[in-house]
Formats: sequence, structure tokens, C-alpha cells
Amino acid sequence: MAVVAIYSMKGGVGKTTLAVDLAWRFAALGGRNTLLWDLDPQGGAGFLLGREPVPGGRAAAIFQREGKPRQLIEPTAYKRLSLLPSDESLRHLPGQLARLGQRKRLAQMATLLGREHERIVLDCPAGLNEVSDQVIAAADLLIVPLPPSPLSARALDMLRSELARHHHRHPPLLPVLSLYNGRRPLHRAVRQGQAASWPIVPHATQLEQVAVQRAPLGTFAPLSDAARALQRLYSGIEAKLAERVPAPRAGAILFGRQTATA
Ligand SMILES: Nc1ncnc2c1ncn2[C@@H]1O[C@H](COP(=O)(O)OP(=O)(O)OP(=O)(O)O)[C@@H](O)[C@H]1O
Ligand SMILES: [Mg+2]
Repeated sequence: MAVVAIYSMKGGVGKTTLAVDLAWRFAALGGRNTLLWDLDPQGGAGFLLGREPVPGGRAAAIFQREGKPRQLIEPTAYKRLSLLPSDESLRHLPGQLARLGQRKRLAQMATLLGREHERIVLDCPAGLNEVSDQVIAAADLLIVPLPPSPLSARALDMLRSELARHHHRHPPLLPVLSLYNGRRPLHRAVRQGQAASWPIVPHATQLEQVAVQRAPLGTFAPLSDAARALQRLYSGIEAKLAERVPAPRAGAILFGRQTATA
């Protein structure tokens, strides 16, 4: 079992689009029982998979001590892919988790859910708070989509310092250059510099269409350049998960430069 978190401090960087794509690839192409766990009150992951919102707010209740996360899991239209949907009740999750006082609650739940799922993909809300702390504690791999901008570089630096200061044993980081447009000089400069070894998710019409079609890219444009880029990213992630040592070394950065955070 592996927990893969798609996380960024910043909003609108392509987290949900990537989370849905990866989860679908794990299930449909990798043949693995996969759970896509939506931790964002916006509910974007369910939306992209064609789910209609259901009235009521049960998503936050599963985090309570006696909460039963399994009961909320839904099948999707795709074989081996299940969804743990979100709703508005998750708006208060940072405070709720902080009050609960169990720093590893999310990790415990993931371990439980990992009995039935070989891959758990966390679609995380933007921000740096108790939810991100618990995500970092639960994840085996932290995938961080970063658009090519100085602001992203700053966000990555902040995340690295945060990990160094507050997460002694954190999972490996995989920065991903997202929303990449090779026609833009700034994007090319970032790719040739800091992001030279990062996987790329291109800015692509077909990926925009995921929110219109409400279906994974691979189901409607499997041969597109964007789908090929995401397939390469997925294969790299599976390879890294396969070579996992029992507990990832603190400070290791996959596909990227090493930093002395250990
Ligand atoms: N690679 C891409 N190419 C083009 N458009 C994209 C790409 N990835 C995401 N988008 C679009 O960008 C917008 C933001 O994407 P997404 O919701 O995946 O980001 P997010 O980081 O999850 O946002 P939030 O922080 O609000 O949860 C959406 O309109 C989505 O359709
Ligand atoms: Mg999102």
C-alpha cells in the first residue's frame, strides 16, 4: 500500500486534475485497487469524475475518534477506482483535527483504508495548517505541482523549510512542473534551471477538457501529448514507489536537487 499526496501551499496549480489522473492510471492501467480521497471542501475530485453532490455533510465526521471512513467510500464509473468524497463539512477540518489532538489521525485512517486499497491518492486543499501537517505524516510520497513562476519557487522553498523545521521524518518530495507552456520564455527558463530534472505536466487544452468532460484524460484523449506526459509521470511514480526503502529518508527529494533537511 502507498499513500500519494498531491499537495501544494498554493491554489489553482493543477492538484485536483493531477490527482484524478494519477488515481485513474493506478486503477485502470496499473490494475491496482485505488482510493481517491478528496480532502478539499470544494469537492473537485468527485466533480471531475462525474459525481453529483449529495446533500448532507458527513465527510468531516469520519475524522472523529469513532468515525467510520469505509462507510463513505463510493464506487466510481471506473473499475478498481473508488472515491472518498468531500463536502462542505470539510471547511472546518483544520480546526477539527487540531481540536482532536491526534496528530496521526489521517495516517491511522489511511492505514485502515490501505487494507483494501493498494494506492491511496490524497487530493489536498491548498494551505499550510493542521491538514497539511497530517497529510505529510500520512504520505509515502508528496507530489507538489508548481507552475513555472518565481512564486512557485518561493512556495517550494517555504515547504522545504517547513519540512526541515517541523517534520523530522517526512516523505520524499516530488516537485512537478505544472501548467507548462514551452512557448513562454519564462517557462523555458525555469525548465532549464531549477526544474531541469522535474517531470512536466503541460498546459494543455485536453487537460482543461477534463473539467468539461468530467472524465479522466486517458478515457477521451489517450494518445494526446498531455496523456503521454502524464503516463511518463505515472510510470516514474510507480517506479519510485516500487523501490521504496522501508521508511523514506528525511530530506530525500526525488527527481530534484537534494537539500540538507535531514
Ligand atoms: N495541465 C493543465 N492544462 C490546462 N488547464 C489545467 C491543467 N491543470 C489544471 N487545469 C485547469 O486549471 C484549473 C485549476 O486546476 P485544478 O482544480 O486541478 O487545480 P487545484 O490546484 O486543484 O486548485 P485548488 O487549489 O482550487 O484546489 C482548472 O480550471 C483546471 O481545469
Ligand atoms: Mg483542487
